[in-house]
Amino acid sequence: MWLKSQILLLYCIASEVWMTKQLDSRRNFPQGLYSVEDGGSAKWNRLKRSLYQGRSCRVRGCCTGRNDDCNFNIISKAAICYCDQFCASDSPGPVDCCADYWDVCDHPIEPTRSDEPWPPPASGCYKDGRYYGEGTIIKDNCNSCKCFQSLWKCSKEVCLVRQDLIQYINSGDYGWKADNYSQFWGMTVEGGFKKRLGTFPPSHSLLNMKEAPGNSLPEEKFPAFFAATYAWPEWIHDPLDQRSCGASWAFSTASVAADRIAIHSKGQFTDNLSAQNLVSCDTRNQHGCNGGSIDGAWRYLKTHGVVSYACYPSFWNDHLEASGENHCYVSSEYGKNYTNEPCPNALEESNQLYRCASHYRVSSKETDIMKEIMDKGPVQGMVSLEDD
Ligand SMILES: *[C@@H]1O[C@H](CO)[C@@H](O)[C@H](O)[C@H]1NC(C)=O
Ligand SMILES: *[C@@H]1O[C@H](CO)[C@@H](O)[C@H](O)[C@H]1NC(C)=O
Ligand SMILES: *[C@@H]1O[C@H](CO)[C@@H](O)[C@H](O)[C@H]1NC(C)=O
Repeated sequence: MWLKSQILLLYCIASEVWMTKQLDSRRNFPQGLYSVEDGGSAKWNRLKRSLYQGRSCRVRGCCTGRNDDCNFNIISKAAICYCDQFCASDSPGPVDCCADYWDVCDHPIEPTRSDEPWPPPASGCYKDGRYYGEGTIIKDNCNSCKCFQSLWKCSKEVCLVRQDLIQYINSGDYGWKADNYSQFWGMTVEGGFKKRLGTFPPSHSLLNMKEAPGNSLPEEKFPAFFAATYAWPEWIHDPLDQRSCGASWAFSTASVAADRIAIHSKGQFTDNLSAQNLVSCDTRNQHGCNGGSIDGAWRYLKTHGVVSYACYPSFWNDHLEASGENHCYVSSEYGKNYTNEPCPNALEESNQLYRCASHYRVSSKETDIMKEIMDKGPVQGMVSLEDD
């Protein structure tokens, strides 16, 4: 067995050497002389292609037009194959292309010459056809890879965006489609849990909160379609972007409160509310971008109130970034309608504080929730996310 495969291997190498030697000379003749098709060489071409895959053009890079320097030494200096377009120009005639030319270079898009050093250095690594020197560190989605003794050594984190998972979901019948959201590219699943969520599980007191009495209608009394943005087009605010700040507790509360204040005041107060105000100033048992509780946020909205988004914009002075300290830039006192100082954003004049009455819990009956939304506006809900 061993002997056999050795023989086969030698034979194929010999065949390639022979072919490239023969065809090399073609470069010295006017075109058209070698237009006779050779079935035998096509056959060998196929065989050796499977044996030499990834050895020549993939390493050498492809070149446009005719470029006699765009070659690859196979065994000895005398045996050369080419990775330029010219090698395949006599279609379907004889070729002096390298075995993997058809796989690597023969695409409808223009072949591009690679920037790789030539001849290839003794050490270093390749990724997607690019050469990286020994010791280079690159990022591959959420993992970092180091070229060590010509091999990539990568960390083995589970990434938030995974091509295989996207394909798996989209080939099944799950009722939704997965996509590569570029803002999540490069994050680990663990990082996603930490930075893209951020509401603590409900406290005992929140779970034991008495539900407001439901006054729901039978289901058929509801309209077939209802959307808050259609019912109150001027008063519903766009969703807020928490970026990589795990403070959904503050962002969702600011957003729901702003909608409800606008609806309740019949359009007298339509300002966006400052989630940053909550993240940075509501610090009692709250942890800013590392998570917090929604009942704490609602209590803060009742006692202190928050300013508008324009007054205290999100990510003000980068203070929501992980490295930044979480400094509160407004001070509010109980019972006052304005902060003690001007807005952090000097361009905004109004330092008015917005407050809410006590928060309450809606019954978990679906029609009770529908009635609540139709009468008073958006509600806030919590979902528990698990990795499966
Ligand atoms: C996903 O998106 C990122 C950023 O836009 C991109 O760099 C990456 O190649 C994409 N990955 C896949 C598998 O499509
Ligand atoms: C709320 O903020 C968004 C940007 O996040 C802005 O486009 C919109 O005009 C703001 N609305 C109000 C009422 O300030
Ligand atoms: C604050 O505003 C509320 C409602 O507009 C008003 O009733 C109250 O008198 C104001 N308080 C102060 C101290 O101005």
